[in-house]
Amino acid sequence: NRRVSVRDILQAKERQERWPMLTAYDALTARVFDEAGIPVLLVGDSAAMVVYGYDSTLPVTVDDLLPLTAAVSRATRRALVVADLPFGSYQGSPGQALDAASRFMKEGHAQAVKLEGGHRVAAHVEALVGAGVPVMGHIGLTPQSVNTLGGYRVQGRGEEAGAALLADAKELERAGAFSVVLECVPSELAARVTEQLSIPTIGIGAGPRTDAQVLVWQDMAGLSPHVAKFVKAYADLNETLSTAARTFADEVVQGSFPDADHSYN
Ligand code: KIV
Ligand code: NA
Repeated sequence: NRRVSVRDILQAKERQERWPMLTAYDALTARVFDEAGIPVLLVGDSAAMVVYGYDSTLPVTVDDLLPLTAAVSRATRRALVVADLPFGSYQGSPGQALDAASRFMKEGHAQAVKLEGGHRVAAHVEALVGAGVPVMGHIGLTPQSVNTLGGYRVQGRGEEAGAALLADAKELERAGAFSVVLECVPSELAARVTEQLSIPTIGIGAGPRTDAQVLVWQDMAGLSPHVAKFVKAYADLNETLSTAARTFADEVVQGSFPDADHSYN
């Protein structure tokens, strides 16, 4: 009953098998996803929004994400647990990236890390892989760069931008990344990148022709109130939880909860 490994992920590409990835930030939901057979769980810096209530990923720190990563690792048996390196924890130098990654592996018990950027982080990726840390890349819309991108918008549109994104993907592969997230890019470009790489591409807002797909779990389950066009909600947890909370409140006010079945004699 061993965990999914980066070798398994690379072999899936050779076999042209598609696979799903979800984010996870706590024990109970991580366990549900692990038992549902989701092979890769990402402790995303999207925790900044969905856990900590910030309006971008920028404020979240290694110390914020470490306990969440440890919880996800403890609660799962099979999934490959990937930890997002947050803004400011790796860009400074390959050494800084290795320090942050080491904490996620030693204290968070993650099996891999993810960082944002292409060419600009190639040396960082090489240093991590050289030290034995599997790295997932992330290009296209990179939310940690929202202030230079000028908002959350589709990336890689047009000949030049598309070629630059493909070059970034190839550089990540050359640096030793075991997979790469493509966020918010035209479907045709994502398909072209997927064909030209020997490592899996993981799409989010990147159309159907990537090797894998990832969603933030609260978006996937209909808990997030505002979602992008690319999100599909597979449940309505917002409605389910809201109804549960209102019904609980009503029964407490009316005095019908707890009844004899839920009390000790
Ligand atoms: O932080 C996150 O949730 C992510 C995924 C959306 C890829 O980076
Ligand atoms: Na992220």
